[in-house]
Amino acid sequence: MEHVPVLVDEVLSIVSRPGRQIVVDATIGGGGHAEAILNAFEGVSLIGIDRDLTAVRRCARRLEIFGERVSLDNAAFENMDEVLDGRGVDLADVILMDLGVSSFHLDDPERGFSFQRSGPLDMRMDRSGELTADNIVNSYSEKELALIFKKYGEERFARRIARAITAQREKNRIETTGRLAKIIEDSVPAKARRGRIHPATRVFQAIRIAVNNEIENLAMAIDRAVSRLKAGGRIIVISFHSLEDRVVKTALRDLTRHCVCPKDLPVCVCGAPGKVELLTRKPVSPGATEILNNPRSRSARLRAARRLET
Ligand SMILES: C[S@@+](CC[C@H](N)C(=O)[O-])C[C@H]1O[C@@H](n2cnc3c(N)ncnc32)[C@H](O)[C@@H]1O
Repeated sequence: MEHVPVLVDEVLSIVSRPGRQIVVDATIGGGGHAEAILNAFEGVSLIGIDRDLTAVRRCARRLEIFGERVSLDNAAFENMDEVLDGRGVDLADVILMDLGVSSFHLDDPERGFSFQRSGPLDMRMDRSGELTADNIVNSYSEKELALIFKKYGEERFARRIARAITAQREKNRIETTGRLAKIIEDSVPAKARRGRIHPATRVFQAIRIAVNNEIENLAMAIDRAVSRLKAGGRIIVISFHSLEDRVVKTALRDLTRHCVCPKDLPVCVCGAPGKVELLTRKPVSPGATEILNNPRSRSARLRAARRLET
C-alpha cells in the first residue's frame, strides 16, 4: 500500500514563499511530501534524505520527472551536515522531518515491523545497521527489556511482558514478529487484550525505537538542523507518539532561548535572543476528515519554528 503523507496542507502553508528555495526533506520516505512541495512551488530545489536505501531508490523513480530539482542521499538526518556539505549547500530555507516509519515499513512483513503480519524480527530502518529486534528480544536481560518497554513504549505491563519473553525464549528462540506478538498478548491481563489497540502495539514501538535509536539523537539532530537554516528559514517536525513529541517540543523551546550566561548563574541575565521563534504554540493535529481518510494520521503532531537572525 502507498504511504499517504500527513498534514500536507499544513506543511505546504509553512513552505509557501515566492522564488527560489532549498528544501531539505530529511525523511523522504515514500516521497509524498516531497512530491507535493515540488508540485506546489516551482522555485523549490529539494534535497531528500532517508536512512532506508529502499526508500531512496523508490523516491528516485517517483521524483524522476522533477529532474535536477531533486537530489537524494541515503543517510541518517543526524548526519545532515555531511549531506549538505557534500551537496555544496550551506543553508536551507526549509527542513522537514516527518519522523518514524512509513507504511512501506509496516506493510512489508519481511521488514519485521508488523505484529499483524508475521515476519523475521528485524525492525531496522537502515538495513546495514547491526542491531536488530532479534538481538534485543533474544539477548537482552529481563531488566533491560522491561526498561525499554517502559521508557520507549510507556507500557504498563513492561515487567510481566519482559518476564514472559525471557521464559519463552528459553524454550525456543523467538524468531518471528507473530510469535512475539502472541507472547505479549498471552502475558497481559485479559482486560488489556480487549482494549482499543493491540496489546503488542507499545512493545513493538519500544523495540523499534531502541533498534533505530530514534529518541536519543533527536534533540541534537533538531538543533543541528536549525543551525543549517537561513535567517527566516523554517523547520517542520512531525511526530507520531507522545514521547517523540515531548522531545520535539523541548528541543524547539530550548532553541527559543539561547542563553549564554555562565552555567553557575541562578537566572539568565544575558537576554540573548533565541535561535528560533515558534510558529506553532500548540502542536497541529490532523482534522476529522484527514483522520477518516488516513487513520494512520490520527496520532500525528506537527511543530514548526522560524530561524531568527543571529
Ligand atoms: C513517516 S516516513 C516519511 C514519509 C514521507 N514524509 C512521505 O511523505 O512519504 C519516515 C521516514 O523517515 C525515515 N527515517 C526515520 N528516521 C530517520 C533518520 N534518523 N534519518 C533519516 N531518515 C529517517 C524512515 O526510514 C522513513 O522512511
